[in-house]
Amino acid sequence: MITILEAINSRKSVRSFTKKKVSNKLIKDILKIASKAPSGSNTQPWNVNVLTDKMLKKFTTAAKKEFMKNSDNLHLERLNYMKKYREPYVGRRRKVGWDLYQILDIKKGDFKKTKHFHAQNYEFFGAPMGLIFSIEKDLGWMSWLDYGMFIQNICLLARNYGLHTCPQAAWGLIYKKANELLKLNKNYTVHCGLAIGYENKKNKINSLETEREKLENFCKFN
Ligand SMILES: Cc1cc2nc3c(=O)[nH]c(=O)nc-3n(C[C@H](O)[C@H](O)[C@H](O)COP(=O)(O)O)c2cc1C
Repeated sequence: MITILEAINSRKSVRSFTKKKVSNKLIKDILKIASKAPSGSNTQPWNVNVLTDKMLKKFTTAAKKEFMKNSDNLHLERLNYMKKYREPYVGRRRKVGWDLYQILDIKKGDFKKTKHFHAQNYEFFGAPMGLIFSIEKDLGWMSWLDYGMFIQNICLLARNYGLHTCPQAAWGLIYKKANELLKLNKNYTVHCGLAIGYENKKNKINSLETEREKLENFCKFN
């Protein structure tokens, strides 16, 4: 058992995992506890598909193929962040991108290597388990906020059990294919996913350290 401080401080996005499996019992426990997340009027907008073994292989093979073949024609179902990034977001986004590419030795303009790296999202970065999150399409932005609390709970609970995670908006790019593969009810749509497993400490990609803005830059005492 670790403290909440240890869970928050040790959480990071991991992009290479060992082959060690995550048991169904463990993920059930994590999801059950994660669903204690607050949500407006207790509406609980989350819906999770857990992927392992054969289904994981089938799903990731089809997803990666979709990304590799059609990446120029894939469009998000809704705006994820911003149409045209401006400061301070663009600077922060570039910083994490370049730090990651430096570790991976991907040079500016090397689109082939960049695409190959992005494609690893669709293999859950080699994790033995993938979670795909879907939501009813007509739920509003407060429900999306509720959903984020649920996902963060999963990330923190994972740390309690020695697991690591990587939340992945990348899955939203192939939402059509993912909806089809998971045979989702037509009211639902895939918006993101989460790789979960044990950190591969030997892979330098996991050495990435991300920065945070100073408190005084995002908080004002009145
Ligand atoms: C909603 C969400 C979507 C994300 N999508 C991706 C993704 O598709 N691929 C990826 O490699 N990382 C993804 N990340 C991880 C972020 O890049 C990462 O959280 C951020 O750089 C801070 O680093 P840290 O998680 O290690 O603290 C996502 C994170 C969040 C919260």
